[in-house]
Amino acid sequence: MTSKKAISFYLFLAISYLHSCKNQEPCPIPEEVTYSNQIKTIIETDCFLCHAPDVYKTKASRNKIFDYENLKKHAESGVLVGSITHSTGFIAMPYKKGIKIDSCNIELIKKWVKTGMKN
Ligand code: HEC
Repeated sequence: MTSKKAISFYLFLAISYLHSCKNQEPCPIPEEVTYSNQIKTIIETDCFLCHAPDVYKTKASRNKIFDYENLKKHAESGVLVGSITHSTGFIAMPYKKGIKIDSCNIELIKKWVKTGMKN
């Protein structure tokens, strides 16, 4: 009997704890963001449909963003963040009307650009 109560109590604590975390910090952004640790996976998941090395020539008008050097070039010119945030003057990515990538991934990419685009 008491153990059931205890379980409910701990469940309640766990849920409240998770809930409060969610409210305080919507995106878990690490201290250091690097291409190999976070950014590469995002690009592969959300952009490789058109920007992968074997398809970019036909599917992404030759825009290379599939490796560190080329992504960095687009980041330095402001085009990368402009396109994923759908800012005016840039072509909105991932190139599907009204679709944006996960907002926490946008925050990660912004931080990566701000902190010098580490590899
Ligand atoms: C459905 C296909 C598709 C997907 C998915 C896609 N792109 Fe693109 N991307 C394109 C095409 C097509 C162009 C060229 C558009 C043009 O020149 O009219 C392009 C161009 C770009 C450019 C240059 C934009 C400019 O203003 O010059 C960047 C940067 C870019 N893409 C980044 C991304 C990123 C980052 C993702 C993933 C979040 C992504 N793309 C996903 C098709 C795609």
